Amino acid sequence: MNSESPLSGPTVLVPLVQPVIGEPEIKNVLEVLNSGMLASGEWVKRFEAEFAAYVGTKYSVTTTSGTVALDLALKALDIKNGDEVLVPDFSFIATANAVLFQDAKPVFVDVNERTFNIDPDDAAEKITAKTKAVIGVHLFGQPFAVKALQGLCEDHQLSLIEDCAQAHGAEYERARVGTFGDLSCFSFYGTKNMTTGEGGMVTTNDSRLAERWETPHQTFRRGLNREKTITTMTRSILYTRKSNILHEDLEIGGF
Ligand SMILES: Cc1ncc(COP(=O)(O)O)c(C=O)c1O
Repeated sequence: MNSESPLSGPTVLVPLVQPVIGEPEIKNVLEVLNSGMLASGEWVKRFEAEFAAYVGTKYSVTTTSGTVALDLALKALDIKNGDEVLVPDFSFIATANAVLFQDAKPVFVDVNERTFNIDPDDAAEKITAKTKAVIGVHLFGQPFAVKALQGLCEDHQLSLIEDCAQAHGAEYERARVGTFGDLSCFSFYGTKNMTTGEGGMVTTNDSRLAERWETPHQTFRRGLNREKTITTMTRSILYTRKSNILHEDLEIGGF
């Protein structure tokens, strides 16, 4: 993995993550390929149901990426032009971009210098009459100050979205992240601790919000079309990853 840099001599590439793909994943992908049904099917339902059960929510829906999951969550909350959404100023760019996709304004909030996660005190300072929601990011697998942010949202009648893209399986006060927000978003991108290369998930306990994605191919065509839902083949890999990693209750760290 060494290559010559014309500017500074030899460069050593350090791999960030190494996805674990084994025989069960390959077997399940082959099963889907051989089935002739790549668009939708049982794998989808099984994975959505089991991931929701693992996280501890009643509802979940798969998407093609974590970015699309955030987009879906903001649409479900009806965030639109003129609205402000608080986001931490240290995160992957998708957190803020998803707000821009709604023509709304991301308002950057300082992060705590010890945890690198959104600072609830600075968030309170940034609230205006236009603020509709807060996206908290559990950065590097470390949960943000959930209680403080939940309290702030309750006091100001704001929606809370958890960005769990880097935190599958992380716990806060004995409950898993993904259960605290009105809606929570996961990524299964190639560098994430649970991956299929690309993919995402939204979870919620709110039936009203879940109803808005019940038939995503129809309901969300307005904002999210068919191309933005995940395929059966992708889900089959995810389903296998979940079975192997999550059910064995392994410690999941990093991102
Ligand atoms: C904190 C955070 N939010 C959102 C995303 C977007 O996820 P995706 O790359 O699956 O669109 C990522 C990862 O890339 C992320 O790290």
